[in-house]
Amino acid sequence: MNIIAPSILSGDFADLGNDIRDVLSKGAEWIHFDVMDGHFVPNISFGIPVLASLSKSIDAFYDVHLMIDDPLTYAKDFAKAGADMITFHVEAPVDTKATIDEIRSLGCKVGISVKPGTPASALSEYINDVDMVLVMTVEPGFGGQKFMKDMCPKIREIREMRPDLEYVEVDGGIAPDTAKFVAEAGANVFVAGSSVFKAEDREKAISEMKNA
Ligand code: DX5
Ligand code: ZN
Repeated sequence: MNIIAPSILSGDFADLGNDIRDVLSKGAEWIHFDVMDGHFVPNISFGIPVLASLSKSIDAFYDVHLMIDDPLTYAKDFAKAGADMITFHVEAPVDTKATIDEIRSLGCKVGISVKPGTPASALSEYINDVDMVLVMTVEPGFGGQKFMKDMCPKIREIREMRPDLEYVEVDGGIAPDTAKFVAEAGANVFVAGSSVFKAEDREKAISEMKNA
């Protein structure tokens, strides 16, 4: 069964705690926490103090997606704030190997992500050292964009590169109708923002994606 990771970027920021409790009670396993710095992506979201408050009051698996230029410097603060998984981008202008080692040394699971324009081959040097690959199925920066179906061959390629990889996550435009394409290609963790938080029936949306 797939793991569902609702992206709180589409949640109600005035009532985030209750939004998180709600999706956890409706079958979501992970909470996806999108961090944007206004440099790596053209948007700014939220960061360390928000994660610290949430993780202190709500027990969940915090799946932190760093869309920032300098994940090497900030990994420690996110780990301290309660991150369980820290994913950064292979395109970030930092030492990729050193960043993987740093996240690992902090006791977190390590994820590495590729933007739509980056080929799977960019991961070949690192894929054996991570717990998760996150394949972006939209250009990172904003929720509510249209799913890019042409990312499916890349998901397949990543699965072939490392068949035993525990998690292949997809992020962007994932909804009950698009989930089947990525599941078929080999993804098993589904980030879903608008399709969960804006759904009329969140429980139904989550269970449909789980069973895709
Ligand atoms: C995009 C973020 C996503 C986003 C997904 O940069 O990484 O996690 O919030 O939102 P939806 O599911 O609405 O496409
Ligand atoms: Zn994300």
